[in-house]
Amino acid sequence: MTAPLEALRAAVGAEHVLVDADLTASYETDWTGRFSGRAACVVRPSETAQVSAVLTACREAGVPVVVQGGNTGLVGGATPAGGEVLLSLTRLASLGPVDVAAGQVTAGAGVTLAALQQHARSAGLDFGVDFAARDSATVGGLVATNAGGIRVLRYGSMRAQLLGAEAVLADGSVLSRMAGLQKDGTGYDLVSLLCGSEGTLGVVTAARLRLVPRLGARCVALLVLPGVSAAVALLPGLRARLPSLSAAELMFPAGVELVRDYAGLAAPFAEQHPAYLLLECIDRTDPTDALVEAVSEVAGLVDATVASDSAGQRALWAYREQHTEAIGAAGVPVKLDVSVPTGRLPELCDRLNGVISGVAPAALPIVFGHVNEGNLHVNVLGAGDLAEAVTEAVLELVAELSGSISSEHGVGRAKAAWLPLSRSAAEIAAMRAIKGALDPAGLLNPGVLLATS
Ligand code: MLT
Ligand code: ZN
Repeated sequence: MTAPLEALRAAVGAEHVLVDADLTASYETDWTGRFSGRAACVVRPSETAQVSAVLTACREAGVPVVVQGGNTGLVGGATPAGGEVLLSLTRLASLGPVDVAAGQVTAGAGVTLAALQQHARSAGLDFGVDFAARDSATVGGLVATNAGGIRVLRYGSMRAQLLGAEAVLADGSVLSRMAGLQKDGTGYDLVSLLCGSEGTLGVVTAARLRLVPRLGARCVALLVLPGVSAAVALLPGLRARLPSLSAAELMFPAGVELVRDYAGLAAPFAEQHPAYLLLECIDRTDPTDALVEAVSEVAGLVDATVASDSAGQRALWAYREQHTEAIGAAGVPVKLDVSVPTGRLPELCDRLNGVISGVAPAALPIVFGHVNEGNLHVNVLGAGDLAEAVTEAVLELVAELSGSISSEHGVGRAKAAWLPLSRSAAEIAAMRAIKGALDPAGLLNPGVLLATS
């Protein structure tokens, strides 16, 4: 199995086929440093026809392909296992004009989330997905993983923004549904199927995206609560009272202290507390009064601080948004991204530390998450050789609570072995049948999502 270098050079231009280790290195290790593999080469197409030519050449040569966007993934889904052609989509960075009348825009797979947001805002609109890696994460990766983030509570995850997609299949053919139809009853929803398929069914090259109104007034509050049960209990009331509620992020003292040490931040409160909930409201007019009133009536509230100015809001968000970097600076964590029915979140939190310490007594769990979706990011530092045992124990607990082993990061290589904890044998058989139909030689992202035995 040799990479078809001449055909690849003919497809994208010799200067965009990288072979030297110095040039390929930054593509070959993931953001966490946990996944790494040597690619046969890195190929950087700039348009859909070139992606098609690359996939055709790889199919003819029988060489597997790993698809990569901004390389911000957290589950090894865009990192080579060894020997694949690494298809980097960052040069597919075209952004169409904002269609204000339809509230839509077309974005290439390589457009960063931040560039998409800026583009929408310049036309008086906004994009409904947001998260901390916005400067590097790309539209193709957002589609491939069905990314979530901090605004799911208000706008849903990536699938809810996706009105169309263009994708190249393993045989080089191009699927294109980019009209932005809001209703389309013509059979299988292939666009939705591609969303969350993690590059295993096709290479998404562009997306037609729904935009949301740009709202200029915001208020952020950081609440101190006696525990997770209080955070879960207050949400229905807040959602009902505050149509402007746009984020509800859960943090714990261990994570806040790690972030403070890493970023040199002042303590948010004089003492540490069992649980923190960061709330954000965004509206056309200042939502501060409404948020303050709603917060003041929260049952069990221990303390709270509210920021209506942007510097204060950034300062409060820093405790939350710097978690991932602070954890990464402390070591290579076991990174788990799980969800349970929201009502079972307190039970998951109660049992989590015991389950982890039962397997790896010296390990340090740092947990945070998106409380509205019952989504916890479980990061375990210092697990060493026990990383797999920790993963297994946590994911089994999640399965016992009827949860998902991957909430918004994807399954990747990291969780593929545990897919049966979240999907039945019948579901996995159907998924494998779809994979086999669209990629019969199994060349697209092998080992990602569906384990290769
Ligand atoms: C987040 O919510 O910050 C992201 O999912 C990243 C992470 O889990 O580390
Ligand atoms: Zn998240």
